[in-house]
Amino acid sequence: MKIDFFQITGNSGKGTFSDYCEKALERLEILNSGKGSGNDFLGWINLPQSYDDDEIKDIIETAGNLRELDIIVIIGIGGSYLGAKAIIEALKPQFEKTSPEIIFAGHNLCGNYHSELIDYLTGKKYGLIVISKSGTTTEPAIAFRLLLHEMKNNFSAEEIRKRVIAITDAEKGALKELADKEGFKTFIIPDNVGGRYSVLTPVGLLPVAVAGFDIESLLHGSSIAQNICLEYSTENPAVKYAAFRNLMYDSGKKTELLVNYNLRLNFFTEWWKQLFGESEGKENKGIFPASASFTTDLHSLGQYIQQGERTIFETVIFVNNQENDTTFIPVNADDNDNLNYLAGKNMEYVNTKAAEGTLIAHLEGGVPNIRIEIDNLDEYNLGFLLYFFEISCGISGYMLNINPFDQPGVEDYKRNMFKLLRKNNR
Ligand code: PA5
Repeated sequence: MKIDFFQITGNSGKGTFSDYCEKALERLEILNSGKGSGNDFLGWINLPQSYDDDEIKDIIETAGNLRELDIIVIIGIGGSYLGAKAIIEALKPQFEKTSPEIIFAGHNLCGNYHSELIDYLTGKKYGLIVISKSGTTTEPAIAFRLLLHEMKNNFSAEEIRKRVIAITDAEKGALKELADKEGFKTFIIPDNVGGRYSVLTPVGLLPVAVAGFDIESLLHGSSIAQNICLEYSTENPAVKYAAFRNLMYDSGKKTELLVNYNLRLNFFTEWWKQLFGESEGKENKGIFPASASFTTDLHSLGQYIQQGERTIFETVIFVNNQENDTTFIPVNADDNDNLNYLAGKNMEYVNTKAAEGTLIAHLEGGVPNIRIEIDNLDEYNLGFLLYFFEISCGISGYMLNINPFDQPGVEDYKRNMFKLLRKNNR
């Protein structure tokens, strides 16, 4: 991974970029030594290098069994589905289904979605992976109840036990109780790993392995990132990224747009939005994490970015090698569409030039930029990026003086919803 920063100067924060890097380094020290707030949720920091080999084997073996089915429904919301979806969407050819087909559920309360899903599953050979750390979240709990009910109407208890896996807390929560009672195989989400930092636990690894991707390579990428991103150096890319974000924030750039030039990364940006939004948006502070896919969104958001309120900075993820781009633009004898100047080039070449041109335009328009390049869209690079963003988020949250590992505000909608639904507390 390569990271570059554009338009560092001219932003009136509380010091220079190098001052912010020094502060970020102090915060990394606090994070890594466990002296900061939320320090009972730091289990994710050493996950890539301390992963239990037996658990990896178990995940791969379980995934192998589930791969005999035609469809696997992953039930979960927030940190309990976004990481898996991000990785699978990034790795999967866009017009192909994985085998087995992976479908997500319980990440919304849309009745249409779930009734159409039940219709779709009827008569098919499917299984379920239900993921909830707390084991009490309403959206996945309802979806699981519905889908399990469907299964019970159609399959024997023995068959269901082969097809249902639960990923949850070691002891607490209704899901753990239910899984034990029904005899479902369970994987544990460690106590000290919060939902949005759980992608490198069975929460992300089992679905990714079921989809047929290489979780060892994913963990290898994260492990390399762990070496680099925990280094006490102002050259550490996570330190620099956290520093730049906070310099931007203090300079009035309150929105960060995570941009990709590859549609396969659209869900990666959703994962990133949750990571930063839920970690930093507290105590009336925090950068608002937004996303865009270029060049698509240059034709919708481009005008605003170029000339609207000057409160945005961009972080662009660019994938260098697009080996499967076979879109060579042909010569056309009459050149009616005036595109012969591109003949012999592929579409990705045009995409690259669009990215370069956009960078120049946005810098001229007062939009500072961070450019992150990865060589390939593969497990290794995605693993690296996941860990890089997690560490950056921890450092950046501490620079804002908030606890990046809780999410008290998420409870407010639930309180009102439960009151309106007349939920009794038992
Ligand atoms: O980051 C978090 O903790 C949350 O976004 C959770 O992942 C999300 O609310 C789902 O929670 P649970 O896994 O307990 O069902």
